[in-house]
Amino acid sequence: MCGIIGYVGSADANTPDAIDILLDGLSELEYRGYDSAGVALANAELDVYKSEGELEELVSSLSVSELREPGVGIGHTRWSTHGPPTDTNAHPHTDDSGRVAVVHNGIIENYQTLRDELTAEGVTFESETDTEVVPYLISLYLESAENADGVRSDGGSIVYERAFRRAIDRIEGSYAIAAVFEGDETIYATRKESPLVLGIEENGDGRAGDADGQSTGAEGGYYLASDVPAFIEHTDRVVYLEDEEFVRLNGEGYEVSDEDGTTIEKTVKTVDFDAEDTGKSGYDHHMLKEVHEQPSALRQCLRGRVDELAGTVTLEELDTFVEQEFAAPIEFVACGTSYHAALYGASLLQQRGIHATATIASEYTTDRVPVDDDTLVVGITQSGETADTLRALREANRAGGTTLAVTNTVGSSAARACDHALYIRAGPEIGVAATKTFASQQLTLLVLSAAVSSQISHDEIQSLRRVPDQVRTILETTSAREVAEELVGSDAFFFIGRGLHYPVALEGALKFKEITYEHAEGFAAGELKHGPLALVTENTPVFAVVTGDGQTARKTISNIKEVEARDAPVVVVTDGASDVERYADYVLGIPETNERCAAVLANVQLQLIAYWVANTMGRSIDKPRNLAKSVTVE
Ligand code: M6R
Repeated sequence: MCGIIGYVGSADANTPDAIDILLDGLSELEYRGYDSAGVALANAELDVYKSEGELEELVSSLSVSELREPGVGIGHTRWSTHGPPTDTNAHPHTDDSGRVAVVHNGIIENYQTLRDELTAEGVTFESETDTEVVPYLISLYLESAENADGVRSDGGSIVYERAFRRAIDRIEGSYAIAAVFEGDETIYATRKESPLVLGIEENGDGRAGDADGQSTGAEGGYYLASDVPAFIEHTDRVVYLEDEEFVRLNGEGYEVSDEDGTTIEKTVKTVDFDAEDTGKSGYDHHMLKEVHEQPSALRQCLRGRVDELAGTVTLEELDTFVEQEFAAPIEFVACGTSYHAALYGASLLQQRGIHATATIASEYTTDRVPVDDDTLVVGITQSGETADTLRALREANRAGGTTLAVTNTVGSSAARACDHALYIRAGPEIGVAATKTFASQQLTLLVLSAAVSSQISHDEIQSLRRVPDQVRTILETTSAREVAEELVGSDAFFFIGRGLHYPVALEGALKFKEITYEHAEGFAAGELKHGPLALVTENTPVFAVVTGDGQTARKTISNIKEVEARDAPVVVVTDGASDVERYADYVLGIPETNERCAAVLANVQLQLIAYWVANTMGRSIDKPRNLAKSVTVE
């Protein structure tokens, strides 16, 4: 959801043209979701280009060859919140003199008050965005700084920085903001509840060197972005900005400071993925690539955590915390796919006799779900940047609960906001549809539930360790494509499951609607007869997850008979342990295992169904309409 890229070439190095870096960076941020894009180049003059639609629209609207200059620039992909996607609403925004350009992620909550105030000062706004108040505030403070000091704005960056800080001081809400000024080869930026990370590039190659302190100016260039993939091609050395920190980047280096302007020594970290990880490796879509990456992602997730010989599971990140604090009530909070993982995690813990619930993060308040000193609130969020989940976690923290982030993103806001962090280790996920991160969340929660209850049998450990290979078997043998091609064009698609397969049914439906744009719903299998059965016809396929041959399977088979009697095509995802295939029009097989691991395997078949229906329909699979990878507004 919105993406920022900024670049300043080092004064001491041969640096590439800023426009190339900005456009490449924006294209790496496309996965976050956007509907317009723009760049501002700050050399002797400030040049702003922006355009509604895909990045190609922006590229075709500018003459890149004329813009080839080393130097300084910022870029933005916008996902509309205030005002529709238009050229005018696209970022960067400037004041009317065009001497400052600003890009912003997040929401300025008091923008209407600021807009009224600035309108009274004579400002005429062009866009409908909340962001446009920022360049005008900066401009206002720039003028007063010039007047008060008797210094012209081009007389030094202190004036710009002062004006930038004063403007930020007026803003309420969540933001990552970057600004550049005419005639000043510097980027000024800050963040609050929206991510910003610096990339530090060594001479010509950003993959080595000292890992501490402020820069010496010896690097090849400095990057600023919403997420590491925007600059990973150039450097893997990063500095994460914290809330309310400011950064100034120019050819001499970078300086991070707090609200009062006091310099902060930041640690430079090395991230452990490279440009290869964010490419498509020959697959047509990131989503398909990521579905196929699941065996290795799951192997990575389990590495060092499961000891078959000793019959134990260990979560290093949680150390002694697991035993001390997991007897308490556990409340999961999450959104979307991660919420389905939360439902699955809560059921796993309940099965082991631990009180656990899952709440949609945007619905979570500590009034509804009381928190005391003993409560553990677990936020599940692959990005670690989802605003609803972050708000819930912060509220839980304030109320005295202990918080744990289960996330894919080291250094993310959730990891930093919580008392503890547990990583799912899925690697970068670019497709908006969460796939391998869901599987990795499931497996992490399986390990977590075993670790906290100190209950894991030798059989269970073996089942866990087999999951990556079993997923590979599914990927190699699936007939999901053929089934999808048969069923495409149906009126609606329903997904049912019981127990641990209920969250899988919900996730199957979410994935399906998200990328096919077709009507899809997930139900607890037993709920069909309480209403949704009225929707079932011979043109509404029902996907049912049935594994094992116990009571859960038998009851789901009864529900399948209910839809079969209404002539609905039935697709079963099954391990073949029951006689469910007798009632199915189509069968998607999974290897036999226990119910907990079967929920991970069954989901893979449903991911593939969604993918192949969407592909047959020619949908924009990696960037579905209206959706964003990282949802940083509430
Ligand atoms: O980054 P998060 O896990 O917090 O994201 C939460 C949801 O926005 C996300 O799971 C969304 O539902 C998926 N992109 C759906 O595939």
